[in-house]
Amino acid sequence: MRPHELEQRILASWHTNAAAWTSAVRHRLIPSRRAGTDAAIMQACARLRPKRVLDIGCGEGWLTRALAEIAGEAVGIDGSAALIDEARAAGGALFEVLDYQTIEADSKALPGPWDAIVCNFALLGDPLTPFLAALRTRLGPRGRLLIQTVHPWACDAPYENGWREENFASFETQFPATMPWYFRTLESWFAELRLAGLLIENVEEPVDAATGKPLSLLFQCVAVGYQRH
Ligand SMILES: C[S@@+](CC[C@H](N)C(=O)[O-])C[C@H]1O[C@@H](n2cnc3c(N)ncnc32)[C@H](O)[C@@H]1O
Repeated sequence: MRPHELEQRILASWHTNAAAWTSAVRHRLIPSRRAGTDAAIMQACARLRPKRVLDIGCGEGWLTRALAEIAGEAVGIDGSAALIDEARAAGGALFEVLDYQTIEADSKALPGPWDAIVCNFALLGDPLTPFLAALRTRLGPRGRLLIQTVHPWACDAPYENGWREENFASFETQFPATMPWYFRTLESWFAELRLAGLLIENVEEPVDAATGKPLSLLFQCVAVGYQRH
């Protein structure tokens, strides 16, 4: 399957899974989120003290809503109209239907500039460089890009880049559709960010206190050429 078709399959799966996902997030049925990834992304955002923050691939909008409480302005965008409907129904922030392909073709499709752009488990495809480069152009002069993603240790197959199929088996609920996603090694994350003109300023690896295993990988990035004042 071509990258474009895989992206369409990712979005189609979110459309089909919108109700199940919304329920899983709002009833806290995702163990890794309870164990620390929700707290990790909120703390990373709060440290930046953003006035304007953009939540990319916001889903049903929990993070955008939480960010609206610490920032003057919080906007969430997502390619799934069904999830944006859920987000708007819950309110608390501004939500727009917008897919990554549209942003990649014209970064001005995104408003900006932003003090912080956040991608919480929302970068699922390949390649990422063109989309990340588009996001970089929407960062303000002191803006930061935060990305939380699957830790590369969470790998039950050979340690190599490639498309996998998520069946959501670790969630405490059933999902009607599986979802293709691109497993990315650490080396590949570094390369995608570098090629997009982003410098990694900080890396965090939140750990599950119960298992001692990493829960996620969290990058804080800044546009290359940014001068610290
Ligand atoms: C795992 S969910 C994460 C949702 C939210 N960030 C959270 O932490 O709860 C991934 C989200 O990315 C969105 N997404 C994936 N590919 C997308 C694309 N190409 N354009 C827009 N949104 C996309 C999906 O619709 C879905 O809401």
